[in-house]
Formats: sequence, structure tokens, C-alpha cells
Amino acid sequence: MEFSTAKLVYFSPTRTTKRVLEGIVRGIQVNAVEHLDLTPPKARTRPVEEIRGQLTLIGAPVYGGRIPPDAAQRLRGLKGRDAPAVVVVVYGNRAYEDALLELRDLAGEAGFVPVAGGAFLGEHSFSNDVTPIAEGRPDENDLRAAADFGRAIREKLRGIRSLDEMPPLHVPGNYPYQEIGRSQGISPVTRNDLCTRCETCVSVCPTAAIALRDTVVTDASACILCCACVKNCPTGARAMEHPRVLRSARWLSANCSERKEPELHL
Ligand SMILES: Cc1cc2nc3c(=O)[nH]c(=O)nc-3n(C[C@H](O)[C@H](O)[C@H](O)COP(=O)(O)O)c2cc1C
Repeated sequence: MEFSTAKLVYFSPTRTTKRVLEGIVRGIQVNAVEHLDLTPPKARTRPVEEIRGQLTLIGAPVYGGRIPPDAAQRLRGLKGRDAPAVVVVVYGNRAYEDALLELRDLAGEAGFVPVAGGAFLGEHSFSNDVTPIAEGRPDENDLRAAADFGRAIREKLRGIRSLDEMPPLHVPGNYPYQEIGRSQGISPVTRNDLCTRCETCVSVCPTAAIALRDTVVTDASACILCCACVKNCPTGARAMEHPRVLRSARWLSANCSERKEPELHL
């Protein structure tokens, strides 16, 4: 089978997942690439979309060894028909546990035929200058591995005439999946002396947890701790200061510093 176009479908608050998918599709070498970005809050209420006969790359970050519930909910609004899916999780150098298995299952339940799976590395959402965790990833080597993976996927698809010939895709992970961590009512804060009220934080928040009133206000119960607001704030006014997150960042920085490499399943 040959595909001249591909669709990238992703939930990617800090854009590492998006970048990995772009690296993979570069290696697949199609003529046109479409994006379906499920990150903005409006993706929660999209009508069901059918993807028919198109090679689809589906990507999500790993949160607590799982797919973030917001990503899973948005992905359930897709229907695949005669469409092969490459499933990709991106994690911050700790572990991805059951996330790739969950994403493969979500793709299968939506009607896609999973043909390849990858676990790639992305800078951890909690990473900063003081507690770096997988800083700068995906880097050049990761993106080279992503393109090589893309080439291998193209060859695998070339080797079959119909998706009926595709053997089941096996990926690591366990049933039942790990339990999902409960939302803890924690969120980044805004340092009003640095804030210019530019509303970048409002525009990048995937759950519409942030609003500009007299000052920037955050609904901590809606925050998923993705840190898109922190990483995109042009003046450094947005910061994660909660002791529990800072403790977690220190632990990750100290204990998950050994470089992990992408794992590919074909
Ligand atoms: C709430 C939360 C939980 C996370 N859990 C994990 C995890 O279990 N393992 C891991 O290695 N990284 C974990 N990460 C890090 C993200 O998987 C990593 O930063 C990823 O690159 C983010 O993807 P994005 O840039 O597409 O948003 C977590 C991040 C957040 C915000």
C-alpha cells in the first residue's frame, strides 16, 4: 500500500508530541500533510470526524503512565475507516507504562488499524533551568530516529496490499491500565509584577482554565498541569510554584537524568 497524504492527530500542550509526529511523517515522505490539533479546548466539543483511507499518525503525551484523560476524550471523537494508524506517545524520560497500549487500544476502538507504535522522549513539562528533565528533547538524534521510523513504516505498508493482511500490533503495557492520578487542584500562578496581560497563557491553555479579568485568574480544578502557560509566557510571569510539583520536579531531575532512547514497535 502506498499513501500520498497523511494526517497528524495530536494533543500536545507543550508541542513535543507534535514535533515528533512531524519528524516521523518526514520519513514517510508523503506529498501532503494535514493537521488535526486536538489541543485547544474547542476540540472537546467537535462533531465526530471520520477519517477514511488516510494514513493517520496519532500522538499524545504520557501523564502518569497513561494518556491524559482530555486527550482520550478528544480522540474518542474520531472514527477511522480503512485507515492505518501509527500511534505515538511522548514522555519526559521517566516511564510510559501503559500509555502506548492505551493509545493503541483507543485507535483500534475508533476503527483504525494500528500498524506501528513508538514511545519517544520530550522535555518534561516540569523541566526548568533549576531542575532540567529531558531538556531540549526531542533533539536532533530523536528527530533522526523519528524519520528512520517513518521510513520503516513506509516499507511495512509497501509490503502489504490491503490492511486485512496487517498482523496485530504488539506494544508494551499491562491490563488493567495504571490508575489515573486525581486532579489535585494545583495550578501555576501569575506574578502580577511581570505580567503584561498579553493573554498568551489564556490562548495556549488546553482546558480553558485561565481567564483575564482584572488580573489573570486560573481555575485550578480545570488545570491539568501541562505547563503550556509557563513555557509560553513571554515575560516569565507564569510559574509553577506549588511545593508538591517542585518536589516532583526535583525528584525527576535527580532520578530520571539518564538518557532514554525512542522505542519503536513495527
Ligand atoms: C501531569 C503530567 C504527568 C506526566 N507524567 C509523566 C510520566 O508518567 N512519565 C514521564 O516520563 N513523563 C511524564 N510527564 C511529562 C510529559 O509526558 C512530557 O513533558 C511530554 O513531552 C509532554 O508532551 P507535549 O509537549 O506534547 O505536551 C508528565 C507531564 C505532566 C504535565
